Amino acid sequence: MRIVTDFNEDWLFEGRDRVRLPHNAVELPFSYFDEKAYQRPFTYDKAITLDPAWEGREVSLRFDGAMANAKVRLNGVEIASHADGYTPFVARLTQYLRPGVNHVNVLIDGTENPGIPPFGGVIDYLTYAGIYREAWLEVSAPIFIAQVKIETPDVLTKPQVSARVWLDNPQGLPLSGTLTAQLKDTAGAVVASTTVKADADLTLTLDAPGATLWSIESPALYTLDLTLSTPQGEDTHATRFGFREVSFTAKGFHLNGKPLKLRGLNRHQSFPYIGYALGKAAQDRDAEILKHELRVNMVRTSHYPQSTHFLNRCDELGLLVFEEIPGWQHIGDAAWQAASVENVRHMITRDWNHPSIVIWGVRINESQDNHDFYTATNAMAKSLDTTRPTGGVRYITGSELLEDVYTMNDFILGNEEQGGNRPRTPLRPQQEVTGRLDVVPYMITEYGGHMYPTKSHDQEQRQAEHVIRHLDVLNAVYGDPQIAGAIGWCAFDYNTHKDFGAGDRICHHGVMDMFREPKFAAYAYASQSLPDEGVILQPVTFWARGERNIGGVLPLLILTNCDEVELRYGSHPPKRVGPDRERFPHLLYPPVILDKRHFTKDELGLWGMSWEHAEITGFINGKPVKHLTFASDPVATTLQVQPDATHIGPHDAVRVMVRALDQAGHKLPFFPEPVSITVTGAGRRVGPGFVPLRAGSTGFWVQATGKGEITITVTSDRLGVSVTQIEAR
Ligand code: GAL
Repeated sequence: MRIVTDFNEDWLFEGRDRVRLPHNAVELPFSYFDEKAYQRPFTYDKAITLDPAWEGREVSLRFDGAMANAKVRLNGVEIASHADGYTPFVARLTQYLRPGVNHVNVLIDGTENPGIPPFGGVIDYLTYAGIYREAWLEVSAPIFIAQVKIETPDVLTKPQVSARVWLDNPQGLPLSGTLTAQLKDTAGAVVASTTVKADADLTLTLDAPGATLWSIESPALYTLDLTLSTPQGEDTHATRFGFREVSFTAKGFHLNGKPLKLRGLNRHQSFPYIGYALGKAAQDRDAEILKHELRVNMVRTSHYPQSTHFLNRCDELGLLVFEEIPGWQHIGDAAWQAASVENVRHMITRDWNHPSIVIWGVRINESQDNHDFYTATNAMAKSLDTTRPTGGVRYITGSELLEDVYTMNDFILGNEEQGGNRPRTPLRPQQEVTGRLDVVPYMITEYGGHMYPTKSHDQEQRQAEHVIRHLDVLNAVYGDPQIAGAIGWCAFDYNTHKDFGAGDRICHHGVMDMFREPKFAAYAYASQSLPDEGVILQPVTFWARGERNIGGVLPLLILTNCDEVELRYGSHPPKRVGPDRERFPHLLYPPVILDKRHFTKDELGLWGMSWEHAEITGFINGKPVKHLTFASDPVATTLQVQPDATHIGPHDAVRVMVRALDQAGHKLPFFPEPVSITVTGAGRRVGPGFVPLRAGSTGFWVQATGKGEITITVTSDRLGVSVTQIEAR
């Protein structure tokens, strides 16, 4: 049996602090910090005592991710190094371990080393130093299963599992024995099995008639359990995968032979204060937010391979993934390019069994064409995986198409404001972008972002325009069969370098803020989902008389998947209005837009004279399904403290949102008063303990420090004290 143990506890960081992995070397303030703070080397040390039971076995350490240039020493001898900050690496200890206590030292370097991707130019994101993912101690038989790749050919006609299995035999022992494979269905029942003679590199095939397909609605996951039996011992290995088939054609994207318009958002893997260093629970949660709150069907892991926890959750939820290699606009010298080609290998060999991943990004995001380099990255991808298409994200037009899909960041919307003479256009036609005579598989990988940065506390009118721009692009995508789909920039605001963003080291480009609190634009996405997933009814307003220029709330956009929406304003006659299919003909669920068209002159004259409360009701099939009330005189009433979960694992981090609400339960968008936060018991607070509310809310993560009760106390001078108990177990 292979024994995998948690190797995260009790690292000595910088010879000073006892820390647990995942770990962030330098905790940053929320904004306006010096990003050079973490751009230097750091050390991690840990003792490991040789266990006599390891005699004759293989012992190694696996690090899931460390930023960057990691060097691992055992008892002073360098035994492994790994430059890339986004992929795992293994340090084999076997031949170096000595009896008693051994000393592991990991040196990482947060310097932006221009010799390796993504560095060498400026980049619009931060690469927080630290051993920021988990580490594992693995003890196995001397001949063990090193790598498994599963393919599922012919899923629509005659589903099969084709598993390529590589064994490792570092001690060079004579190889004999057997390899047994068991295919388990979603319920864990064995549905097929086979046993073959062990070989260093072999392919197993299992028939899987009637296999349930993996889809976004029903992401069925199977497992292939392998057992290697050799005279030296047994090794086991489980791989989770799904039966599904993807294709991008000139007519769009198909999943299992059925067309699917891709509607996605880009995600950076960073969090406020703690950078990259949140573990499984927080990674899972981001996938859940994308799937269930934002209700997109695709995410791009801009601009690097992200946590396998995140990808596993995408597999489980049925959220499609565009994964890409590290980089941002800059292409370095030959050695740098060679490292980047290797990054393609690292990414694909780590992730090729995730059914959620449907395309590999094998260009440096938004770089210039480079025939030789990108021929090499594509060849590397194809040599490893012929089942998935490649893309390569560019913003240049007329780029050489070396990939299967022309993936384009189209920032044309808003360009008219730069003095261009093209009228406002959401997206350019495919052939104008590619400069080709033929129509090719084509997808939009970014839009929005820096073209219209929008803070959650920006004026309502700006936020309404932010919403409209996202809707305009979605509408254009749904209306153009030559576009497979579009992935907006971006899901969450993120910390960045001084060269980008609002100077505060934040790109306010998200449809959610850094705490994953929705801005109005979040509902542009959520509202494009079936009401079965939950009714969306989100008016783009704070319902105040003087927030907008001149005043009032018209035109009032209501993001909804209802058939009709009724507005009652004070004692005026109700207005019942359907979706605006004229303005947004292609959207699945156009918003309801209340404007001059819906009011008489007299009503418009009255509108805003004396500010009154409003009631907004959503109807489906004539029945009211959701009802909102807006007070005309909002006053700070409630301090809401909402953790994402009340029970967490002993090492999990849980997000807690704090909101100031009015008497109708709406957030007070301009309530800036600070709250103090204390966390006691089996958890610690990530970030500062005295923070302002921003746009009426703030958030923080609580990191469990073992098992037990955690008490979270949030105090506001105006709104009192809220005590919340959660349990780590
Ligand atoms: C793109 C880039 C993203 C981000 C975005 C901001 O050009 O690919 O990483 O910087 O702009 O809108």
